[in-house]
Amino acid sequence: MSTPELVSDEKALTIFLVGFMGAGKSSVGLALSRRLGWPFEDLDDRIEARERRSIEEIFRQFGEPGFRRIEHAALHSLMQGLGSSSRVVALGGGAFAQTPNAALLEEAGFPVIFLDAPVEELFRRCQEQQLNRPLRRNLEEFRGLYEARRPCYLKASLRIETDGKDVESVAWEVIESLKLQSL
Ligand code: S3P
Repeated sequence: MSTPELVSDEKALTIFLVGFMGAGKSSVGLALSRRLGWPFEDLDDRIEARERRSIEEIFRQFGEPGFRRIEHAALHSLMQGLGSSSRVVALGGGAFAQTPNAALLEEAGFPVIFLDAPVEELFRRCQEQQLNRPLRRNLEEFRGLYEARRPCYLKASLRIETDGKDVESVAWEVIESLKLQSL
């Protein structure tokens, strides 16, 4: 994994948060956006707004391959809309594990932060959230998917361990690592 470059707070920047289901991408993203005073966007929310249906319905109707096509199109449009202002973006758990999506992020050159935690902890957090995630079934399948994707997540510019930390501390760690100016 490469060391993230020192980031100037003068040029527009997008921070991407990636990682498995339950990693805290959306909650850390929100905390980070509040601390930086930058807007926050969740790619799954963009997908649901574009498709006018929930992620669960998209999976039910088009299966995972259909969802991935929609996800890629949504990420592509998000990347095209990155203008002169900074923002924080959380991707869904599988997005960065898809080669074409990782290539889009690499090409843009923005920092990609992998939020990590032990798989049992990720599974537990998802259970607590009571959010219907089509790819979260039993712990064994969840673990298999996590292990298959982990090498992809490790291509991020930075990995942050979130186990035993609250959302605010993780957000602070991102700010410190990227040498950003908090409000
Ligand atoms: C997915 C994770 C979900 C959502 C979709 C697929 C995955 O996002 O994009 O259900 O493939 O891991 P979260 O990581 O926000 O749950």
